[in-house]
Amino acid sequence: MADRSPIWHPFTQAALVGPAIEIESARDSTLVTPGGRRILDAISSWWVITHGHGNPHIARAIAEQAGVLDQVIFAGFTHEKAERLARKLLALAPYAKHAFFSDSGSTAVEVALKMAVGAWHHRGQRRHKIIALEHGYHGDMFGAMAVGNRGTFNAPYENMLFDVARLPFPVAGGEQHTIDALENALRREPNAFAALILEPLVLGAGGMLTYTPNLLAELANICRSHGIFLIADEVMTGFGRTGTMFACEQANVTPDLLCLSKGLTGGFLPMGMTLASEEIYEAFYAEDRARTFFHSSSFTGNAITSAAALANLEIWESEPVLARIAAISAHHKTRLAALQSRREVAETRQMGSIAAIELNVADGGYLAGLGPRLQRFYLENDILLRPLGNVVYVLPPYCTTPTELDRIYDVIEESLELREA
Ligand SMILES: Cc1ncc(COP(=O)(O)O)c(C=O)c1O
Repeated sequence: MADRSPIWHPFTQAALVGPAIEIESARDSTLVTPGGRRILDAISSWWVITHGHGNPHIARAIAEQAGVLDQVIFAGFTHEKAERLARKLLALAPYAKHAFFSDSGSTAVEVALKMAVGAWHHRGQRRHKIIALEHGYHGDMFGAMAVGNRGTFNAPYENMLFDVARLPFPVAGGEQHTIDALENALRREPNAFAALILEPLVLGAGGMLTYTPNLLAELANICRSHGIFLIADEVMTGFGRTGTMFACEQANVTPDLLCLSKGLTGGFLPMGMTLASEEIYEAFYAEDRARTFFHSSSFTGNAITSAAALANLEIWESEPVLARIAAISAHHKTRLAALQSRREVAETRQMGSIAAIELNVADGGYLAGLGPRLQRFYLENDILLRPLGNVVYVLPPYCTTPTELDRIYDVIEESLELREA
């Protein structure tokens, strides 16, 4: 045991799995081990890599920035990379007027929740309740856990999580139930709710569950007409995953708070961003110091991370990124159509570069044995896929080639035989 790694890995039951696979380098869609084994990263390393591993433009921007300015306190100080980044992001979401920096998807969500509740507080109303979607996932911090689905992931902390009103997930054909549930909650307690939080169009960790832009637009309208804030958590859907820069664009929805992370730096470095409307900012803007937004972490606005995010946006400006996503989307469509007819497949779903295959199984729960069994099979075939229970999904970097996509799908097709093993 002496040489056993002391590292406690995330979302990993060490008692059940062998040592972690060491990766020495990565380029484009491929991870490389010290022994030269090449593993195809079909899930963008937990949904973060957009243009590809090791993108030279972002790598160069990071190296250059590291030699000029590393980190400076962000309270009372600023720097050019953060200023340019904030302006560029706000130009992409022009309904938002202010950019608040943080460190991850969870922190972007925590900030949004605190801004929504805080804004009501400063406007003289005690609105502490949040509405969320069933099967939602917003991160693993306490506020983010509270608004996320309750279950295996957060069972030990259940009693510590604040109460949230939960809307039924809008299954196809059942959208009206979700709409009614939102309207009923807002009518029942008209002055209780601060905000609705949701993942627009695709619920990621919930199983790549999709719903329509029409429904999203309808929920946003109801929020508007009842005067509560809409928080769009685009931590996963942002930066092209659903086929548009942000998923909200497909429904013409303009949230009051937009949470971003993951693809914000092209997946190179951790960064969270909460974009806020003028109305929210105004609620905190006062000569009264008690109305300050008292939130930060030490590395807020880090200059190297900001340079990476800026370089990511430059790639969006100078390269045909949406066309690459459209090509991946078309490829998904063809291969999913073939899978759909297999008796092992219950349903296929797709939104832009995200494809999901839900398998017909007796126990599709996250803790069922199927997920790890499939994952082992994919790795034996040098493909990184991490099924969510009985949902196998492909969420590749945008540089993934048609040949690589075919390899991923060929191995998925082979794996269907393992379903009942
Ligand atoms: C929609 C959504 N929100 C928030 C998060 C949390 O992000 P992070 O893991 O960076 O804290 C995730 C992570 O997967 C996510 O998918």
